[in-house]
Amino acid sequence: MKVSFILACAGKGARAGFGKNKLLVEKDGMTCLERSLSAVYKTKLAHEIIVTASNEDFDTVTKICSPYENVKVVVGGNTRTQSVKNGLSAISGDIVLIHDGARPFVTKKLIKDCIDGAIKHGGVIPVVPSRNTVVKVSENVTKEYLGKDQIFSVQTPQAFKTELIKKAFDQIGDKTFNDDGEIYKEFIGDLFVLQGDSSNVKLTYPEDFDFNKKKTEYRFGVGFDCHRLVEDRKLILGGVEIPHVKGLLGHSDADVLTHAIMDALLSSCALRDIGYHFPDTDAKYKGANSMELLKEVIALVKDKGYLVDGISASIMAEKPKLLKFIPEITKNLACALNLSEDKVGITATTLEGLGFVGREEGICVHATATVKSV
Ligand code: CTP
Ligand code: MG
Repeated sequence: MKVSFILACAGKGARAGFGKNKLLVEKDGMTCLERSLSAVYKTKLAHEIIVTASNEDFDTVTKICSPYENVKVVVGGNTRTQSVKNGLSAISGDIVLIHDGARPFVTKKLIKDCIDGAIKHGGVIPVVPSRNTVVKVSENVTKEYLGKDQIFSVQTPQAFKTELIKKAFDQIGDKTFNDDGEIYKEFIGDLFVLQGDSSNVKLTYPEDFDFNKKKTEYRFGVGFDCHRLVEDRKLILGGVEIPHVKGLLGHSDADVLTHAIMDALLSSCALRDIGYHFPDTDAKYKGANSMELLKEVIALVKDKGYLVDGISASIMAEKPKLLKFIPEITKNLACALNLSEDKVGITATTLEGLGFVGREEGICVHATATVKSV
């Protein structure tokens, strides 16, 4: 049973008032489109994802979607119904889920329930009970109390057997509808409900985008690395070449500081270590620029749902004196990590002539990283 997923993203986001599509505004390091897309993608329940985009946003949306496999961007329409219609013409699955791009908190459980529901019933929508009593009002006068026991708020994703929802959409003509379920109900028949999820809210107004209200989860990791000092090698620390009579030996550029930071980042998310991701048996990493590898590590952390929040590292080196290079190293790392410089704390120390560091045989770094959930 092949499952298609339409992510409706072709709106204007007028009520959010950002002056552009609300789904493309970066908040806490990520756009709503990225959040919604990755939430769906990582469930691995959709065989293809069709994203609708307005003509104006088409290139930006395509760029955001490009790292994901089996994602296609199609041009939407003036109304959500028209956008979904365009999306439906591009799908090949037996079951289709239609979801607002503005609902980034959708869960795997809800998607799975929707798929199972559509297979069983033909058409299902998730609903949550109304929190309040609902009344119909006209000209400032209540017309009818609807109570709350039989009143529900409708969410997405809404899921259907593809041939049925396509048949329904073929009959809509000029009529406007609230959502896809209503179209199914009007032209096909009974639309079943399943339990939605109160956290699956639709981001509509500016305050909905204040993610700081959501509880942020912080994680912490440590990393350590050590490289031998030898002649005829460069000494690179945090991507900065430091003039010295010796340099660090290694399969890559042996940037011991960046290596320790990468391990701290990976460890904070329980993502193994750099030896696992970039084995020194792989010729690909011979002479590798560690700052490039750092970019890959940041992407792994982001994929897991976290952003780098801060770095702290202590360099143990007898020589050269690093004091005057620390600002440049800090700046370079802050830029690579997309952090302000006051979130990157780098210190350096000698070991008072003790041990292999003291004998100038090697340089060690101990690093810590803090990441926060997005
Ligand atoms: N949508 C769409 N095509 C449209 C209109 C809306 O694909 N012509 C999408 C939106 O991008 C959004 C979802 O449908 O993800 C739900 O719509 P809504 O929350 O109303 O978003 P907007 O229409 O963009 O916002 P507004 O109504 O405030 O302009
Ligand atoms: Mg709208």
